Amino acid sequence: MEVLTLDKFPKRVLAKIDIQRAFILSRLIIAAERLQLFRTLHDKPMTAAEIGKSLKIHELYLLSFLNTMVALGLLRRKNNLYRNTPFAEKYFIAERSIYWTRQYSKECVGAYERLTVLEQALGSGKRHHQIKDLAQPDYLERMKRDPREAEDFTQMLFYLHQGDAEALAGYLDLSQHRNVLDVAGGSGVMSIALANAKKNPHLRACILDIAPVCRIAAANARRAKLSRRIRTLTGDIHRGLPAGYDVIMFCDIGPIAMGLLQEAYEKLPPHGLAVLVDRYVSDDGTSPLDRLAAHFVGSGFGLATRGQMVDALKSCGFRRIKSKKVYQDVWCITGVKN
Ligand SMILES: C[S@@+](CC[C@H](N)C(=O)[O-])C[C@H]1O[C@@H](n2cnc3c(N)ncnc32)[C@H](O)[C@@H]1O
Repeated sequence: MEVLTLDKFPKRVLAKIDIQRAFILSRLIIAAERLQLFRTLHDKPMTAAEIGKSLKIHELYLLSFLNTMVALGLLRRKNNLYRNTPFAEKYFIAERSIYWTRQYSKECVGAYERLTVLEQALGSGKRHHQIKDLAQPDYLERMKRDPREAEDFTQMLFYLHQGDAEALAGYLDLSQHRNVLDVAGGSGVMSIALANAKKNPHLRACILDIAPVCRIAAANARRAKLSRRIRTLTGDIHRGLPAGYDVIMFCDIGPIAMGLLQEAYEKLPPHGLAVLVDRYVSDDGTSPLDRLAAHFVGSGFGLATRGQMVDALKSCGFRRIKSKKVYQDVWCITGVKN
């Protein structure tokens, strides 16, 4: 998926956006996405009144909201009909799944909320929920309670991680391995790409995750016609890893606790492989920008560097450690059990 970044906006629009206004404008775009404005107008031009009725936008704001989208180059207005520009069609429809529209835009709103107390957070070292005296947010509990939330989050990542997964499958040599444990494997996107790779016809995988996520992963494996080679296992990764796998893989789960890596080492057979994949922070701490920014809006990912993860693997006993940037900001770090 190609992410819509500011530089992709038409120059005449970009030139008008200063840093302060960017904050407000981006919130307006998020509102348009949350209201599913672009999906509503997909292949279907509508009058302002029709849009207002369909999306429940009050008349006080309706025209100014739609015209702001016109000014941003996201809608076009002709003969009182509004339609998506090709730009909006590309980035909000063609390049995005409905899961992204629903989940990512919701996360963005959470981020705006957190940023209201940013200076207090910077000064106190506290998190938003501590400053506002709210219950600690727990996305796992929310997914367990709400199947729709589990589906939106998991499938958003399924689409978002396609590029990472293909790059990983191209990079990893698993010709000497048979069975992958995909720890906190989510949608199964990584396992599916590995099993789908022509060079791995022998490979089997198991996705370990919480129950609602496993159900979604199993459906994805079915759709990929890989049910016989990819299975799921419901469990909590902090309550022990199963044995019987010669590859243990941790993708996009942030810094991996030493205890978990140590356990992976113990559960692997001799010559077993540990695979860590993530957007680790550079050793000088200045990239990737997204990971750094996410730290201020409640990301639980922490800021482990590539070097720290390499050292962690070494100190658990892994040898022949390799690290390689396989895709955009994504690193793959591997280590072999002696
Ligand atoms: C950011 S997603 C990454 C999913 C997948 N590895 C990928 O690369 O797309 C993190 C996953 O970890 C799972 N997870 C987090 N904590 C867990 C736990 N204690 N036990 C099992 N799964 C957990 C979540 O349900 C979620 O699917």
